[in-house]
Amino acid sequence: MRNGSWTSILVAGAILSMAAHAAPAADVDQRRLGHADREPGQWLSSGRTWSEQRFSPLSRINDTNVQRLGLAWYTPLNTFRGVEATPLMIDGVLYNISAWDITTAYDAVTGKVLWTYDPKIAPEWARLACCGPVSRGLAAWGGNIIIAALDGRLIALDEKTGTPVWTTQTIEPGQPLSLTGAPRIAAGQVVIGNAGGDFGARGYISAYDALTGKPTWKFYIVPGDPKKMPEGAASDAVMPMAAKTWSGEWWKVGGGGNDWDAIVYDPTLDLVYFGTGNGSPHPQAFRSPGGGDNLFLCSIVAVNAHTGRYVWHYQEVPAEQWDYDCTAPLILADLKIGGRTRQVVMHAPKDGFFYVLDRATGKVISAKNFVPNLWASHVDLKTGRPDVYPEAYLTEKPHLMTPSYGGGHSWNPMSYSPVTGLVYIPTMEQWMVESRLPDGQFKFALGQSTLGAGVSNEPELRKQLNAAADTRDKGYLLAWDPVHQREAFRIPYPHPGNGGTLVTAGNLLVQGTINRTLAIYRADDGRKLWEMPAGSVPVAGPMTYEIDGTQYIAVNAGWNSAIVHGLHDGPEPFSVSSANLLVFALDAKGVTLPPTPPADSLPAPPSDPQPADQVQAGAVLYAAQCAVCHGQNAAGGVKDLRYLNADTQAQFLDIVLGGKLKKEGMESFSDRLSTAQVQSIHAYLIARAQEDWQPDFSRPKRK
Ligand code: HEC
Repeated sequence: MRNGSWTSILVAGAILSMAAHAAPAADVDQRRLGHADREPGQWLSSGRTWSEQRFSPLSRINDTNVQRLGLAWYTPLNTFRGVEATPLMIDGVLYNISAWDITTAYDAVTGKVLWTYDPKIAPEWARLACCGPVSRGLAAWGGNIIIAALDGRLIALDEKTGTPVWTTQTIEPGQPLSLTGAPRIAAGQVVIGNAGGDFGARGYISAYDALTGKPTWKFYIVPGDPKKMPEGAASDAVMPMAAKTWSGEWWKVGGGGNDWDAIVYDPTLDLVYFGTGNGSPHPQAFRSPGGGDNLFLCSIVAVNAHTGRYVWHYQEVPAEQWDYDCTAPLILADLKIGGRTRQVVMHAPKDGFFYVLDRATGKVISAKNFVPNLWASHVDLKTGRPDVYPEAYLTEKPHLMTPSYGGGHSWNPMSYSPVTGLVYIPTMEQWMVESRLPDGQFKFALGQSTLGAGVSNEPELRKQLNAAADTRDKGYLLAWDPVHQREAFRIPYPHPGNGGTLVTAGNLLVQGTINRTLAIYRADDGRKLWEMPAGSVPVAGPMTYEIDGTQYIAVNAGWNSAIVHGLHDGPEPFSVSSANLLVFALDAKGVTLPPTPPADSLPAPPSDPQPADQVQAGAVLYAAQCAVCHGQNAAGGVKDLRYLNADTQAQFLDIVLGGKLKKEGMESFSDRLSTAQVQSIHAYLIARAQEDWQPDFSRPKRK
């Protein structure tokens, strides 16, 4: 397949001038990836090129003809879990990874399945994944497709057959870690981070020879037990420096910092940049009671790609305690700033600031909030430090906060167009009631939620603040000028939870929307050009490719577990189809998606009043065990538990203790909770449903 399609792409594609130099198809390697722009019809790595701009030079589909776009083919992914990956297209084959890391190769023109590989993830791994057994993408190298499986394995699959070539376990035994990010290739190695900062883990990123899977280096993001240093890791040299910014016995509670997505490589400077995650436990008081910056939480760190040796870091959120993961995707670009071309790295993490850094030195060039912000007034460019509002710090007293832990922008990929000079950010304004447990009440248990959030004090205040939080959320696509740090335009949506973006030389800006559509706008002014129902919310990053003179746009449409308040506030309850991979082309006709199942009306909760003591005990247990996946205050998340139907109400114990929905990602909690405790959680959920349930969708729910 590789050999056959190569010449035809060159001859018919947008790169005719290259035909004279046509080489036989080669494996994806340093040369091909390094010169990805010479093959604009391909999509060779998660963000297309090493700079991860998600900009495509293709323009056959453009702002003058996109109205003719239609569905060329689709393939059912048979899951209601999130599908977050950007597929790859290499030499005529589209490679995709779905929930539970099921990986499939398709003929990119016809959609014919060439092979499928199922790594058979044990269902209990889902308990370590707040947001479902998702994957954000795959990598290609040396004739293999490399996947990062939820259970920690890196698996290289022969790109022709899908047969495993090598497998490496990246997770330290006994650690509550999981892999959801796309593996990246840097200097002939696969580089991968992991998740676990919500469960008491100590984060690290590690690198493996991309041809053999042999480990090459490992960089710990937070210091371990100083008595056990050095530990033979690339990070050894800087861990003493990092340890000075911690206090107490933080290593006993993990520390966190896990990089679960953001990795980008600059082959010229030979640097790997990665974004690091939140502190674990979330409240700083429970991990570093004497304060301190807690390096390298919520930072961008640059290391040498060959050795993993530290080069620089910039901490975006010192003393991180708001679950501000700084793991949103990074973009490299050359920007003209103040008359000089600067090599920059751009970042728009959950904290709601847009950062432009000199990527050679790590010096912050500019930083500006792109959403309303109660966290920090500004970033001092001399010191690089944010001026944090004193009221923002977590205390026992509940307060309203934005950005919340949903973030101003999270993992959904943003894109940058060198043509318009704009960055396109899937943006959220999310509000949340935040507080921490009183001293002495947080109990650390490795592998269990380390949110440490307060829930039961000041119930009246909480109720008021929660009501306010529920009505303030917003979602929009923000076009941001990174040079002048200002908004160019925005495209509003009814809710947060919209998809990643793609931008093309055809002046197209592509995004999946919370309206369960794929929409295309003009990249220069945001005017809508085209929109089509997608059955579900395409939360993933869209991509595009070209074969034999035909350009295609592809996106996974599989709703994930974003915490979105008020999803059911519209004219009817929010419901989605099972996930599909969708591929569009001009003048494609005759392929239609099966109709989205009509939204069931939301079931009414049982009407019997619930005993107050049980409700209160249930609220505390819910916050500790369930909120990480089902949403704070029992709203949003993988499944909104305020809207259980009669069957699920009846089977509550079978589900929560009996593991009845294990295969769906809901593992049994029988090792942690007694029957009486689960009954309390049930009582709390019924009480929450009684508070919020409102059968008439045409009326605003609460004011
Ligand atoms: C690691 C993530 C995670 C945690 C933690 C978690 N759940 Fe779940 N839960 C899920 C997933 C995934 C589903 C399946 C949703 C679906 O079927 O679409 C689910 C489904 C459920 C359902 C069935 C809902 C329905 O309408 O079908 C119930 C009930 C439930 N969970 C209760 C709980 C309770 C109670 C807790 C805390 C003790 C909890 N869950 C903790 C992930 C989680």
